[in-house]
Amino acid sequence: MNYPVWEVPGIGTPWVIGCIAIFHVMISHFAVGGGCYLAIAMRKALKENRRDWLPLLHSHSKFFLLITGVFGTVSGVGIWFAIGLVNPGATSALIHNFVFGWAIEWLFFLVEVSSIVVFYYAWGRISDKLHLQVAYLYAVSSILTLVIINGILTFMLTPGHTWLEHASDRNLPAYFWYAFFNPTYFPSLFMRMLAMMSLAGVWALVSYSRLEQSATRDQLIRWSVTWLIPAFLLMPVVFFWYQHQIPASNWHLTQLGMATIGAGTFTQITRIALLSIMATSTIAAIAYFFAYKSPKDFTTGHALSLLFIALMATASTEYAREAIRKPFVIGSYMYSNGVRVKDVAAYRTDGYIAHSAWAPSVSSKGVKYEEGRFLFRGECMSCHTINGYRSMKHLLGDRDDKAIGNILTMLKENKPDSPYHAFMPPLATSDEETDALKYYLLSLNHKLPKNPNAPIPTPETAKSAVKVAHS
Ligand code: HEC
Repeated sequence: MNYPVWEVPGIGTPWVIGCIAIFHVMISHFAVGGGCYLAIAMRKALKENRRDWLPLLHSHSKFFLLITGVFGTVSGVGIWFAIGLVNPGATSALIHNFVFGWAIEWLFFLVEVSSIVVFYYAWGRISDKLHLQVAYLYAVSSILTLVIINGILTFMLTPGHTWLEHASDRNLPAYFWYAFFNPTYFPSLFMRMLAMMSLAGVWALVSYSRLEQSATRDQLIRWSVTWLIPAFLLMPVVFFWYQHQIPASNWHLTQLGMATIGAGTFTQITRIALLSIMATSTIAAIAYFFAYKSPKDFTTGHALSLLFIALMATASTEYAREAIRKPFVIGSYMYSNGVRVKDVAAYRTDGYIAHSAWAPSVSSKGVKYEEGRFLFRGECMSCHTINGYRSMKHLLGDRDDKAIGNILTMLKENKPDSPYHAFMPPLATSDEETDALKYYLLSLNHKLPKNPNAPIPTPETAKSAVKVAHS
């Protein structure tokens, strides 16, 4: 089954998901980390009788109320709309596997939102003990949303052997747990938890840096810096574990220079990975030398720069994670363009269009330009646009019929040593369709008739066309 394609001029569909998802990831990481922070800080304040901490925690929690209740909800729903439009095939595959997972996640989310509302608005109206319990509830329910969604996210990168072997079975739900606890589940969970804790620490620093000088301010700043320590110590180890679970072929992408195609495509990923390492060490330096050593001199400017670097590191790691999944949307099961690996052979013999319920209308049947356009939308536009992001016009340049034909042949043969193998899906078209796609691609930079197969109008046909138009 292939679906109609939603076209987004300029940025293309990948960035629609990219922008919403990266925003949502930041928000949700804040929310989960913040949940733990509030609960643990409150417990410490009550246990050690530091009541002066409490009002500060109250104002600090307002941010989490906004983050979870407003931005988290809106961007979460946004992701649903976006993935449904951008990649209906993958969304359908995920729903078929994880529908109950999602249902449970929403339940946890509901508890999360309700408990932060109670935590904030019930301030001073309920007993300390009950208040602390509400804080725990917020922390635990937000961690549980992560526990669930992490299974679905990691599944997309590494569905695991068992699930892949049974992916076409009728009783897919029987393999739910294999899909859920897939090879990258645990390392990714720990990595995210570490990132969340440090984000919570960084946000606390922003929040306290704005307070007037006092001993409490210094204490809270120092204590918040300790929230960054687990990530610094453990992140490299967990990252190594994570990397170990990812198939070498994916990881290979980060190392390729891709000399064959335009300027430094995937060296980008390497650069991004380096960026996040550099960002982490800069955070460590600022946090230690400014916040911990001399909390009095720690300004909001310092705190905001920490926050900025931390968010950049988070965003770039997410970007790298998405990029190493190429050319799949669900590892070894479905390509980014929604074509399932197992359907490629049939699309090649019977044609992609024959397997589509959304094929061009009868009138454009056999019209190379129209068919080519349909194929381009179906198989290429999940990564390319015509004129914007990864512009096909630009990438093709002045390539002629033969050169474009060669690229399509390479895409179709999809040999492991092909320069395109690692990041573009194999072309799944019949021979005639390949020809139509070539015609369409050629037409992007060269003037070609839109309907080369149409009969040349004779005086007779022209006359009858006028008659039809008048009747
Ligand atoms: C999974 C994503 C993805 C899909 C789907 C995809 N491509 Fe690409 N394609 C890429 C990436 C990434 C590049 C490298 C872009 C760059 O160099 O900036 C690329 C580069 C190209 C290039 C330039 C190659 C060169 O040697 O200069 C062409 C041509 C191309 N793609 C055609 C296609 C066609 C035709 C389709 C559909 C049949 C397609 N692509 C589908 C990701 C994809």
